[in-house]
Amino acid sequence: MKEKGKKIPMILDGDPGHDDAIAWVLAEASRRSDGIADIRAVTTVGGNVTLDKTTYNARRVCTLIGLKDVPLAAGAAHPLQAELMNAPSVHGESGLDGPALPEPEIEISSLSAVELMAKVLRESREKVTIVSTGPLTNTAVLLLAHPELKKKIERISLMGGGVGFGNWTPAAEFNILVDPEAADVVFRSGVPVIMAGLDVTERALMLPEDFQKIRELGNPVSDIVYQWLEFFYKFHCKLGYAGAPMHDPCAVMVLLHPEIFTIKKYHVEIETEGDYCRGTTVADVRGTTGKEPNADCIMDLDRDAFAAYLIEAVGRY
Ligand code: BDR
Ligand code: CA
Repeated sequence: MKEKGKKIPMILDGDPGHDDAIAWVLAEASRRSDGIADIRAVTTVGGNVTLDKTTYNARRVCTLIGLKDVPLAAGAAHPLQAELMNAPSVHGESGLDGPALPEPEIEISSLSAVELMAKVLRESREKVTIVSTGPLTNTAVLLLAHPELKKKIERISLMGGGVGFGNWTPAAEFNILVDPEAADVVFRSGVPVIMAGLDVTERALMLPEDFQKIRELGNPVSDIVYQWLEFFYKFHCKLGYAGAPMHDPCAVMVLLHPEIFTIKKYHVEIETEGDYCRGTTVADVRGTTGKEPNADCIMDLDRDAFAAYLIEAVGRY
């Protein structure tokens, strides 16, 4: 997947969100030190909260981490067909409750997210990876509007779905449930997909002792990440989690350190109908459909290595 030392041109597309923000901290840490994460654009989507809030949060996060020299564009406010569904119970009313963040020092591009994504792809000599950590609306619109650019996409590394279970319904994970029609476009597109679903992301736990290690790093970003982890954990602790699940950071970490993950190739289809299963990522684990795999599904990870890499990344600020 990753050639040692080779840059990975990428677009960060998300709905920050505590774990989106930490995913971007991880990517920017790489950009500023080893240069592997070659971030070309940041784009936002309505998801955890409404688009105006996710875009404001994205600008604040990018300001905090110094990701100020790449364009940032606002994307889809609503899913392709459904009503927007939000998750304030997880992330708070602002979508990023907890520590005070700096006011944005980064403007919003005059281009839409899809126009910016298309521009980045068109102008790039190398293929570009899309890292999607929110509903897949922007990526789906890009694929529908610009099928000629598919060949410029290296892969779509997404947080969403799960082979075994859901979190927003028994069968569906939040990002896919918000816009199943968009997910359907993405999984059928023929573009390589890495699916960081709940199977792995719920095992990618940062434990309270890891929070302390981050706090002790003592830099301006580490203190905020510590408080984000505390906030995120408070919600999950009540549900019985032993730590804060790092859903979205998995979609970045798998690009930087694929060796710490267990990946299975499955054919995945998206359920867009149904009373109980709308938004389910139906993975053909036993090969009963005879269809070729269309996704690299991450099933497990070396948790300690994941935590160590994330702590080390925050230490680079
Ligand atoms: C996903 O939903 C959002 O609340 C998180 O940011 C993550 O992308 C987990 O189901
Ligand atoms: Ca997210």
